[in-house]
Amino acid sequence: MTHSHHHAHGHTHTDRPGHGPAPEGDTGMAELLDLDATLGASVLAGALDAAAAALGRAPRSIVDLGAGTGTGTLALAARFPGAQVHSLDATATMLERLTDSADAAGLTDRVTTHLVDLDGDWPAELPGPVDLAWAALSLHHVSDPGQVLRQAYGALAPGGVLVVTEMAGAATWSPTDLGSGVNGLGDRFDAALATYGYPVTAEWTTALGEACFAPVERRETSFEASATTTDGARYMALHLAKNRDRIADDLSPEDLAGLDATIAALEAGTSGLRSTSGRIVWVAVRPADDRTTTPTTPTQDGDAR
Ligand SMILES: C[S@@+](CC[C@H](N)C(=O)[O-])C[C@H]1O[C@@H](n2cnc3c(N)ncnc32)[C@H](O)[C@@H]1O
Repeated sequence: MTHSHHHAHGHTHTDRPGHGPAPEGDTGMAELLDLDATLGASVLAGALDAAAAALGRAPRSIVDLGAGTGTGTLALAARFPGAQVHSLDATATMLERLTDSADAAGLTDRVTTHLVDLDGDWPAELPGPVDLAWAALSLHHVSDPGQVLRQAYGALAPGGVLVVTEMAGAATWSPTDLGSGVNGLGDRFDAALATYGYPVTAEWTTALGEACFAPVERRETSFEASATTTDGARYMALHLAKNRDRIADDLSPEDLAGLDATIAALEAGTSGLRSTSGRIVWVAVRPADDRTTTPTTPTQDGDAR
């Protein structure tokens, strides 16, 4: 076998002339996040609208949990011009990219980055209670999401709002052969990925209630990537190439060749592929009259750090 599931570099499809060296995993992830932001702009706008409606006042302090390259941070700062945004992430390269974007957007004075682990005492990083907490595609990464939700509850001012976003499931492809001519390739690609637990989906409705948030609103939305746009084609090419590495050992040579042809067509601008990706957005409120109650930490949770 030439590919292992954890071997991320050196594949021929990333070594084409004219495309520069194969991107580091982190860089590819950062670009994917940025494209996700562009294509998912309507999902983001909907979540911001819901947050503003639930909050009912202009937020002055916001925390972005697992801020990554700053998709949420920049959108939040733009939408709420009176707010200071605290962007927390455990990966320095992500925060460096976020800082560059914030500077370029003229938001230097309103965005503060914090290199911090969400599995630790991250609320201590904040200067005071926040009005809005934002966790997009990040809560499933932490080792104790319930603990992070209780911490978020405690970090919010009464009446404050938490918005959580996760992926809703596998992308659906049109055409179903990804344009490769290999019948059913899209379904086999999704099925192979699913055996590795991708995409990572999560349900937080119950956990949000257990952390005392009330009310908790849950909505499903979706966005489409189309190869008719440069961003859409690049997004699908990156997505397929990244996941090809995960499942290379599980697909037949015919399927792999079809996948490589699909990626090549996306990069050459000759593909007609489209994908639809689902998102779940939760909007949860810390009740305005709740000045005393804080969620209790379960006593059976022996691995408190
Ligand atoms: C999929 S990205 C999402 C980034 C951004 N919220 C967005 O919507 O584009 C997940 C982010 O969570 C961060 N992360 C994962 N585990 C973390 C932890 N324990 N503490 C802090 N950040 C973490 C990663 O570094 C990464 O930037």
